[in-house]
Parts: sequence; structure tokens; C-alpha cells
Amino acid sequence: MLGTNIGIDLGTTSIVIYVENKGIVLSEPCAAAYEKESGKLIAVGKRAWDMVGKNPESIRVVRPMEHGVVSDFTATRHILRYFLSKICKNMVFKPNVVVCVPSMATSLEKRTILDLITSAGAAKACLIEEPLAAALGAGLGSNRPVGAMIVDIGGGTTDIAVITMGCISVSKSIKVAGNALDEAIVRQIRRERDVIIGEKTAEHIKKQIGCSYLRDVELGMTVKGKHFITNLPVSIEVSSTEAYLAMRPHLETISEAVRSVLELTPPELSADIMETGIRLTGGGALLQGIDKMIEKKTGVRTIVSEDSLNCVALGTGEALTHMDILSYNGYVFKARDEIGGLEPEKTE
Ligand SMILES: Nc1ncnc2c1ncn2[C@@H]1O[C@H](COP(=O)(O)OP(=O)(O)OP(=O)(O)O)[C@@H](O)[C@H]1O
Ligand SMILES: [Mg+2]
Repeated sequence: MLGTNIGIDLGTTSIVIYVENKGIVLSEPCAAAYEKESGKLIAVGKRAWDMVGKNPESIRVVRPMEHGVVSDFTATRHILRYFLSKICKNMVFKPNVVVCVPSMATSLEKRTILDLITSAGAAKACLIEEPLAAALGAGLGSNRPVGAMIVDIGGGTTDIAVITMGCISVSKSIKVAGNALDEAIVRQIRRERDVIIGEKTAEHIKKQIGCSYLRDVELGMTVKGKHFITNLPVSIEVSSTEAYLAMRPHLETISEAVRSVLELTPPELSADIMETGIRLTGGGALLQGIDKMIEKKTGVRTIVSEDSLNCVALGTGEALTHMDILSYNGYVFKARDEIGGLEPEKTE
């Protein structure tokens, strides 16, 4: 394979990789596992994530992205190196990579990601804001002067943006998304039921019976945890109402943020959004009824995108094929020495 380009959605919960002319080739949890004492890397992606909550004392599992930005530089580099080398093993030349960042990332956070990508095996890298990539992936990133609104609800951040002429007009990124909903469920069950459940169990509750409104007919599911006082294993029935009540304040924050971006949107673009509606992407968009909740809060028709979990990665792929147009708005590939102000690369 010669000079193939790659798009990466480097998310808080998952990493999704798109290869030009092939499509999405990889989607794995963004996690790495280490031997505590030696610091040796022992697993990456799904194999590492499967250990969470079940790992012995001697193993440390990390999720190196926090709220869409790098919190553990070395672990992120290990993950990127591992997956890029797996994908690029038959390539003669190093790939150029388009990678997304939250719309409100600072210049230091952006430079860190650029540095990581180029030191992990890319020839050049180009950053694109996550909601812009999501819009491209959802087929809304047209170059015409027509406004469209994207709300990308991920694991660590909810990115809200109004897109016009292939770039962002107004945007907001809040650190409330899927992971915060899971944590809220964990807290609620501990407070109200004296039972400690793991974050994977909370995520399972959210996906199975979680809802953005009070269900007419309550659903329930049995989960296992540990009694807060006796420390013994217990099995309890959790209801959809409990899950909803736990998540409600965060859901309110998300819909309030969407409303605030609409309020800041220039009138002509608002008029377009009234026509085209609000488009939801990201894994969080799959929460039952979240579209109706945002619709009720804003009065604007809200639609969950097809393949919402992969929209951002598909958008980085779209960006690869439209780099000529994107370059008018300053989206260009940069090599490591063009980024500037970075530490010399360490060999591991
Ligand atoms: N069916 C579902 N119902 C509710 N939430 C879901 C569902 N499926 C996935 N999610 C949630 O979506 C989130 C992951 O979404 P996504 O992969 O878009 O995040 P990310 O891109 O890794 O994070 P970020 O964009 O914030 O960096 C997780 O919190 C997950 O629990
Ligand atoms: Mg994301």
C-alpha cells in the first residue's frame, strides 16, 4: 500500500480508525493495561478494557483520554503506536492522519495531540474539531452557506456546533456526556440503596433501561454489586425511574447547553436550523429519548444520525477526500518539525 491516508476519532471512551478507500477498520476502547511494578505495557484496546474492575492489584488499567483531551501522554502514545503499526504494517510510506479534537480544546491540548500522532507513526497530521467531523460524517458539512447544527454526545464531552460553509460558526463543548451519566447512576445506587456497583454495570443500566424521560411503564433489571456496609456481594433490582432520576441533572445541563448555542446563533443561520433540524451524533445520542428531550427544550426538530457512534470517524474520512476545500479554512497537514515548541522525540 502506498501513501494511504487515515482518519482517527481519538475519543475518551473509544478509538475509531478510518482508512482511505477501505472505511472503518477498527473500533476499540481507548484503554491500555500495564504491569504496575515494571510499568510494562501488557494490553491495549478491548483486551485492556475487559480487565477493568477485574484486574489484580499488580495490573493498572488506564483510560488516557479525559474529556476528549490527552491526560496520560505515554499511554495515549502506546495506544496510537500499537494501532497505527497494526494498520500500517503493509504501507511503504507513513500515512497522513486527520484526527479530531473537542471544539474548545486549548492550543496546548491541540499541539499535544499533533505531537502524539506524528511521534506514533504518522508522516503529517491535521486536526479537525469533533463536531465538524461529525457534521461531515452525517453528510451535513457542505461548502454552501447553509447552517446546520450538530450535537455530538460522546463519553467525555458534549460538543455543540453550528456549521456553515464547511466550518464552525458558533460552538460550545461541555464536560458532561456518557461517562458523567454512568457516574451519576453509581452515586444514586450507593446513596439510595447502599450498594456499590461498578462503572461498567452502570453503563449497562443506562443502555438497557436508561431513558431521558420518565417512562409510563417502568422497566427494571437485576444487577450485582457490593453492599456498602457489609461489603458482601448483593443482587438488586434497579428501575428505569431510578436511572432517569440519577441522570436528570446532567441531561438538563446538556439540553441547556444546546439551547444556549442556539441563542448565540446569528439569525440567518437559526432560520436554516429551523428548516434542517438539530442532528445528534456520538454514542450518547443513542440514549432513549434524548432527541425528544432536546426537541422539547429548543422547539427545533431533532434527529439522531444514522450510525451515530461512527459519525466522527466517517467524518475524518470525508475530510481526507476534501482536504483541498478544507485547506481554505486552515485545515492543513503538518509535519512534526512544523508544529513547533515540542520536546525532542524519546525512543522507548
Ligand atoms: N445505546 C446507548 N445508550 C446510551 N448511551 C450509549 C449507548 N451506546 C453507547 N453509549 C455511550 O456513548 C458513549 C461513547 O460514545 P462515543 O464513542 O461517541 O464517545 P467518545 O468519542 O469516545 O468520547 P468523546 O467524544 O467525549 O471524547 C459512552 O458513554 C457510552 O456509554
Ligand atoms: Mg467522540
